[in-house]
Amino acid sequence: MNETWWKEAAVYEIYPVSFMDTNGDGKGDLRGIISKLDYLKDLGIDVIWICPIYESPGKDNGYDISDYYAINPEFGTMEDFDDLLQEAHARGMKIMMDLVLNHTSDQHPWFKESKSSTDNPKRSFYIWRKGVNGLYPNNWESYFSGSVWEMDPETDEYYMHLYSKHQPDLNWRNEEMVHELYQMIRWWLEKGVDGFRFDAIAHIVKAKGLPDADNPQHLPVVRAYQLFSNLEKVHFMLKKLNEEVLMDYDIMTVGETSGLGPEQALEYVGDQRHELNMVFQFEHMTLDSASNGTGKWESRAWTLLELKKVMSRWQTTLHNQGWNANYLGNHDQPRAVSRFGNDKQYRVQSAKMLATFMLTLEGTPYIYQGEEIGMTNAAFDQIGDYRDVETLNYYEQSHLQGKPIDQTMQAIQAKSRDNARTPMQWDDGPQAGFTTGEPWIKVNPNYTDVNVASAIKDPDSIYHYYKRMLSLRKTHKALIYGEYKLLLPLDPDLYVYTRTLEQDTILVILNFFDDTPIMEWPKTLRGMSRDLLISNYDLPPDAEGDRIELRPYEARVYRLS
Ligand code: GLC
Ligand code: CA
Repeated sequence: MNETWWKEAAVYEIYPVSFMDTNGDGKGDLRGIISKLDYLKDLGIDVIWICPIYESPGKDNGYDISDYYAINPEFGTMEDFDDLLQEAHARGMKIMMDLVLNHTSDQHPWFKESKSSTDNPKRSFYIWRKGVNGLYPNNWESYFSGSVWEMDPETDEYYMHLYSKHQPDLNWRNEEMVHELYQMIRWWLEKGVDGFRFDAIAHIVKAKGLPDADNPQHLPVVRAYQLFSNLEKVHFMLKKLNEEVLMDYDIMTVGETSGLGPEQALEYVGDQRHELNMVFQFEHMTLDSASNGTGKWESRAWTLLELKKVMSRWQTTLHNQGWNANYLGNHDQPRAVSRFGNDKQYRVQSAKMLATFMLTLEGTPYIYQGEEIGMTNAAFDQIGDYRDVETLNYYEQSHLQGKPIDQTMQAIQAKSRDNARTPMQWDDGPQAGFTTGEPWIKVNPNYTDVNVASAIKDPDSIYHYYKRMLSLRKTHKALIYGEYKLLLPLDPDLYVYTRTLEQDTILVILNFFDDTPIMEWPKTLRGMSRDLLISNYDLPPDAEGDRIELRPYEARVYRLS
């Protein structure tokens, strides 16, 4: 068991454009983040992950960087950033930057040069190919709909973009380009940032020769993830990045890696690998997508049995070998309480139950802004209220394919990334206290009930529950380093597990639904004395019995001895 600060830390993710606006332009900014540092400190946060704040034309809200060395003026200045870093450090909190190394904006000077002619020295900073018989160079489908290739009429070649056409992919086979990235990363580290989230890092290397993906149905483009995800050479690149830059600093790293299970994840996060501290995995995020469908948009109901299976595999495979990054929501996913809880009658109970879950697993927890007050999906019903490029492309594409509009809108209401991107709800005043101007995207109308100010006033709020859970996690080492063991694996309603460190055993009981199931106290744990550490209900009447009846979305954490 290797003890380190980033294993004990709790991370809070900020989506800056929707966090706090201080100049009335309807968009969040760095001064806004500074103004809320005390709030985050008080909640019990150790590390703040800020989604990209670099200069960017904003086609994908900052994940399209046009200058890695500059702050987007909409967010503020480099001076504001330096203040933010200093103010966070002064409060004992760390700052983790979000770095996009897979692609840049099409407005980045490198791309402008690259595009200018086929023999420009920066041509091969990106991935250019000729068309084949007037067709795309290969049949890969972009994450944001359509082909990954965009034609550039000036030079009569296509460039690759796994995401939107405004996000051309960098060519990691070009060493000069890679060295430019090293320099840039070192520059931020020298400034004193405490870590990085590496966006889309699984995709930086593409299969040699960019071969077509299997296409039995002869579709124009097909999903080809295995040809650009988690390839062997990615590991070589990450090792090199550590050798050249990262190992000189005591920082924390997390990579975004879709499409892998825990065994393969160990190739990134294994203690001996020296690549990344942890990865964001996606297996639990796909449990409500139809496996034969068109990716995330085609929904099905998730089941607790599957969730337990996936999470348990990650917990046990990484124990003592690597480290988990735990999350139920972020800026790309629907709101956790709307997806895995009940955002209507049991919003408060289920949000607390999910908090208990996230904060009692082994791994570093990532709390997404607003989760601590139980913010819910916005689920706007007009397409005009959405802003996200992925959502708008999907709408357009579905329209072209002749899908019924109500079906498309239903998918968008359930899965659009904008569900989690509406402004942070600070109080019940105009625009939820987020801005004095017109917000860039509508505020969720439930802000009059769901907001920080009222949550702070109410001792029974989700917010206060998070606070208590976060401090509980700090007090019990077993909650951080203890070994996870799943109990009642086949129970379809209850998720029950222990975390054990030496003599210390913590038992977690979670009722994931609105029924009132009975739980037989596990035989192996009978006879031990129980100390209820926290629950989202008043003290249960049967706290000492061997048969307990759980209330809807009830969560209990016991210490056994
Ligand atoms: C990651 C980000 C997402 C972004 C994409 C392209 O998945 O989390 O928001 O659109 O990468 O950079
Ligand atoms: Ca602003």
